[in-house]
Amino acid sequence: MTAATTHLPKEARYCADTFNGAVAAAALSAAWDIGLLDELADRDAVDVPEFTARTRTHPEAVRRILVALSSRRIVVVDAGPNLARRGPGFDEAFRTRGFFYWLTRGCGELFTDLTTLVRTDERADRQMRRDSRAISVACRSIARNFFDPPLRDLLDGIDYTTVADLGCGSGDRIIMLAERQPAIRAIGVDIAPGALTVAGEAVRDANLTDRITLLRDDVLNMSPRPEYADAELVTCFLMGHDFWPRDNCVKTLQKLRETFPNGRNLLLGDTCRSVGVEGPDLPMFTLGFETVHAIMDQYLPTLDEWYSVIDESGWRLADQRLIELPAFSFIFHLTPA
Ligand SMILES: C[S@@+](CC[C@H](N)C(=O)[O-])C[C@H]1O[C@@H](n2cnc3c(N)ncnc32)[C@H](O)[C@@H]1O
Repeated sequence: MTAATTHLPKEARYCADTFNGAVAAAALSAAWDIGLLDELADRDAVDVPEFTARTRTHPEAVRRILVALSSRRIVVVDAGPNLARRGPGFDEAFRTRGFFYWLTRGCGELFTDLTTLVRTDERADRQMRRDSRAISVACRSIARNFFDPPLRDLLDGIDYTTVADLGCGSGDRIIMLAERQPAIRAIGVDIAPGALTVAGEAVRDANLTDRITLLRDDVLNMSPRPEYADAELVTCFLMGHDFWPRDNCVKTLQKLRETFPNGRNLLLGDTCRSVGVEGPDLPMFTLGFETVHAIMDQYLPTLDEWYSVIDESGWRLADQRLIELPAFSFIFHLTPA
């Protein structure tokens, strides 16, 4: 091969970019895990030999990670590479790192197994394996960057002393909600042990074990229990699509009123199925989100379908925020009808 291979015809360039993008997506997640992304964010330059010696990481593998990131202009590297700096694409990649992590670490096994999972006869025996720890870490970053700013805005108009967060994942939101006032008590509910482990560590690190209780429960099958009785605010983020299909969603929303008899406010935030965008126009995340849920046979409602269940479920839309990234996302502020 000669240097001429760098001047590829347009179609071949698309193809090479697709390949390089797949490598760079995995590299971005690994770079975040080993602390390299944060160092790039905080410093003018990262000295690769110094970084790999200090973090006990494999020098050549870290160099390849940086080269993969440089192929998408996320970093700029020297010839070694022994020095790496932020590239023009760094800030956006850093802001959206949770999407990459969700895809490669959280859902990687689904894609490795995709051939089996698309064959009707073979998929029946296969477990749909996702990494709940990685998904909770990814969602923490996605939520902090994209859902928490509009959420804080809505919270300013809501008084509460006890809050329950359903599908609490990493526990980040329940900590944020508890930290708003020293008198607040909070309950985080999740079904996945991996998520509850991450949440437990976060609650301990925040010194909030006296005010935050973590419970393993199935949000789709909840019954009243003493811990739930006092919650005036119920929040549920990035799992509302699990309530669907429609009849189940209506029942789950109705049941929340019985499970939380004092629940005067429900804040529900999620990403919907896209409408009217296709092919090269698909935005960040949408393609991965919809593909993964199709593989898992999990229905994703559109925004209009969400609107259509509110009244029927005994709730009223008091306020809302529509979110641009992830595209087709919302936060509803619901109150009992
Ligand atoms: C995509 S993550 C979102 C985590 C968190 N709410 C956030 O915003 O970062 C969805 C979470 O819902 C939990 N979950 C899914 N189905 C559930 C169910 N039926 N009952 C309780 N938790 C559930 C998952 O284990 C996971 O932690």
